[in-house]
Amino acid sequence: MDKFVIKGGKKLSGTVSISGAKNSTLPILAGAILSGDNVLIRNIPDLKDVRTMMDVLRSLGLRLTEDFDSRELHIKPSEKLNIEAPYELIKQMRASFFVLGPLLARMGKARVALPGGCAIGTRPVDIHLKGLEQLGAKIILGHGYVEASATKLVGNNVYLDFPSVGATENIMMAATLAEGTTLIENAAKEPEIDDLAIFLNTLGAKIKGAGTDIIEITGVKSLKGGTHSIIPDRIEAGTFMVAAAMTGGRVKIENVRLDHLEAVIAKLQDAGVSFFKSGTTIEVVAPERLKPVNIKSFPYPGFPTDMQPQFMAAMTLAKGTSCIQETIFENRFMHVAELKRMGANLQIKDRSVILEGVKHLSGAPVMASDLRAGAALVLAALSATGTSEILRVYHIDRGYESFEKKLIGLGAEISREKYNALF
Ligand code: EPZ
Repeated sequence: MDKFVIKGGKKLSGTVSISGAKNSTLPILAGAILSGDNVLIRNIPDLKDVRTMMDVLRSLGLRLTEDFDSRELHIKPSEKLNIEAPYELIKQMRASFFVLGPLLARMGKARVALPGGCAIGTRPVDIHLKGLEQLGAKIILGHGYVEASATKLVGNNVYLDFPSVGATENIMMAATLAEGTTLIENAAKEPEIDDLAIFLNTLGAKIKGAGTDIIEITGVKSLKGGTHSIIPDRIEAGTFMVAAAMTGGRVKIENVRLDHLEAVIAKLQDAGVSFFKSGTTIEVVAPERLKPVNIKSFPYPGFPTDMQPQFMAAMTLAKGTSCIQETIFENRFMHVAELKRMGANLQIKDRSVILEGVKHLSGAPVMASDLRAGAALVLAALSATGTSEILRVYHIDRGYESFEKKLIGLGAEISREKYNALF
């Protein structure tokens, strides 16, 4: 297994470029199942989760040719698609569940393993299944699998009990080939939903309103091929903003969609961080010491839950008391105990964490529990005095492309080393 060894205390400086968005790439790859022709995806990030989704598409019979140097992925359809997405792939990454809607729409049936929970929560899929049933699918659950079938999907009004990102995407993809019009109400508004809709419309789908809470999909007979370039990863960009803020650095971040980061930028400005924007580049200048800021995670355009652990790491150093509330996932505080081991002063109270800022953290061996918690621990280690080891780096490799290389490019002292995990 790999660990990161980080010698903290360096002020980050220089320029870093943001890769394509993981949470846009994954549903778009699933959406390629809907096309009967060749699809070219550009600006694809080289991430473990993307490679896993590519394995899922190959197991369904699609033919993929990737060139991560040129960030291009060619997807060729196949006449006969397998309709089963096996557990051994779904258990690696729950986003593989996105293939359910497209398979059902394209093949009239699908057998997809139920995704398990993960470190941050039980992650149910009831909203996905209820929406597909409202489009006419027959859903049978058994032996850890969802079996879905429909002679034809028929457009309908689907109200989501919660603006679930994945459910919005699964239902939107299924509705592209349904007969008639579907309205998804209380839809998730994340930028990745809009990117998926732009991709599907390039293939000939008729989707309006993506990025708002009402999405209208007019079904079509079939989808053709096309080319699409993935939007930049707003969470990777936000993570590097916090890295600059926590290390007292001055960093230029390129390939950023600033309109996707308004809540994160606003909160960092409240904490005393200065920003200088020009086009798709933003320069981040840290204050002498961060000011305490309260945050509450919310569906987009609120403060993103995927930035909560990283922002919490920053607030461990702020001059004063701050409160961080997590409203999206029931167990997204796995990084709290590890931050405490680095000298942070914080207490969990239900779905909130109260932090009393300290002058500095101290390096320590800590363990990543999930993707964003792992990223938060890297940021804490970069700012800490002394050396830290971050174990189970595979969590971080799921969502950050060349993370240590990009950090070294900003002056960080970080290396990737092997270790023998005892458990
Ligand atoms: C997507 O997960 C992202 N993953 C997550 O990013 C992100 O944290 C999340 O959206 C929220 O923004 C991808 O896009 C691949 P949800 P998703 O459905 O779709 C509950 C990362 O770090 N819910 O919006 O699974 C659920 O339990 C990852 O990159 C139901 O109850 O998130 C959770 O509490 C982590 N029933 C809340 O909704 C359902 O059927 C939000 O989940 C579906 C969801």
